[in-house]
Amino acid sequence: MRTQVAIIGAGPSGLLLGQLLHRAGVDAIIIERQSADYVLSRIRAGVLEQVTTDLLDEVGVGRRMHQEGLPHTGFDLLFAGERHRIDLHSLTGGQQVMVYGQTEVTRDLMAAREAAGLQTMYQASDVSIHDFDTATPHVKFQHGGQWHTLHCDFIAGCDGFHGVCRASLPEGAVTEYEKVYPFGWLGLLADTPPVHHELIYANSERGFALCSQRSATRSRYYLQVPLSDKAENWSDEAFWDELRLRLDPSAREALVTGPSLEKSIAPLRSFVAEPMRFGRLFLAGDAAHIVPPTGAKGLNLAATDVKYLSSALIEFFQERSAAGIDHYSQRCLQRIWKGERFSWWFTSLMHQFPGEGAIAQKLQNAELHYLVQSQPASTVLAENYVGLPL
Ligand code: APR
Ligand code: PHB
Repeated sequence: MRTQVAIIGAGPSGLLLGQLLHRAGVDAIIIERQSADYVLSRIRAGVLEQVTTDLLDEVGVGRRMHQEGLPHTGFDLLFAGERHRIDLHSLTGGQQVMVYGQTEVTRDLMAAREAAGLQTMYQASDVSIHDFDTATPHVKFQHGGQWHTLHCDFIAGCDGFHGVCRASLPEGAVTEYEKVYPFGWLGLLADTPPVHHELIYANSERGFALCSQRSATRSRYYLQVPLSDKAENWSDEAFWDELRLRLDPSAREALVTGPSLEKSIAPLRSFVAEPMRFGRLFLAGDAAHIVPPTGAKGLNLAATDVKYLSSALIEFFQERSAAGIDHYSQRCLQRIWKGERFSWWFTSLMHQFPGEGAIAQKLQNAELHYLVQSQPASTVLAENYVGLPL
């Protein structure tokens, strides 16, 4: 088998990269270890920056997003029992975000790839990457009970935090920066109308809570929980009761509860691997970085990684120039670290950290009061939330 770019991973990064390359006539084969259904079963965040929605439009995948997605021009901060709206639209000169689940983005990208007749090897096993420090890298894997070797010019490691690509780098080739947070997010998906027409981020003395949504009839809620908690130990009733305790009276009154469609606990970490390029191997998305979900940056940082990577690879094939691929890692990391900083700051501001004492809540409330009363401070939050310019 041969292709120009072997993409490892059919998550949002790999699928979007595949579409961007296809649009420019660059051939790519995606190798994915799970089934398409399994990939679609993952429930992830759902706030898209304009940069991301533009990329989806660019590859012709934006139709359903514009039909079913929810444009949001602001969100609420809830603290000390009061809600304050952050007016993204006015603070950022007219920008907004699109609330549209990552599952739906992935579904749209999969459908476009299939409609174009592009090759995706789902349920591939024993994937390994080779000779990426030469001009003739290749990928070995099992599929359909047979071993395959895929020869290529480049390998795109879009295989997420637990993937094979970063793990295949030689000792000392990468520097990893990591911060693990002392709590997790218990998420619940339900076919109930959202408690509010915009998102509510709550700093409560009982812990962080987030009221999000997928549509006018489907809601997504999160509660900060100890890392020792297990989703199966949280009944729906216990979840709703705890959420009510972290909301203000009007939200509590408006909350519509119902049976959970999905309940899971996700750990929170900040993580960056530097650099992101090793010869003919490039890391993109979660394979290279992880953010705590508070700022909804994960998918958006992945999208800009593959925007830069696709441009660099297209430039190489069309102009035989290595300028883009030589600059790829530095260009991505400048944006990634700003996303990491914002996600860390917002997480630190909104969550209860064990062992920090009562003063921590006082300091958080003081910063939140300052933030909502100061236009410059609110602008800093708003422009990071909608996404910094490329
Ligand atoms: N071989 C082939 N595929 C693999 C391997 C492997 N060894 N290891 C992992 N994969 C696949 C996973 O099954 C998954 O489908 O790579 C894909 C990686 O997808 P994601 O983890 O979703 O990462 P990415 O595409 O970068 O998307 C980033 O996902 O985790 C969220 O918050 C994050 O929204 C962000 C987005
Ligand atoms: C979500 O809807 O899953 C979501 C929204 C905003 C966030 C995180 C998660 O900051």
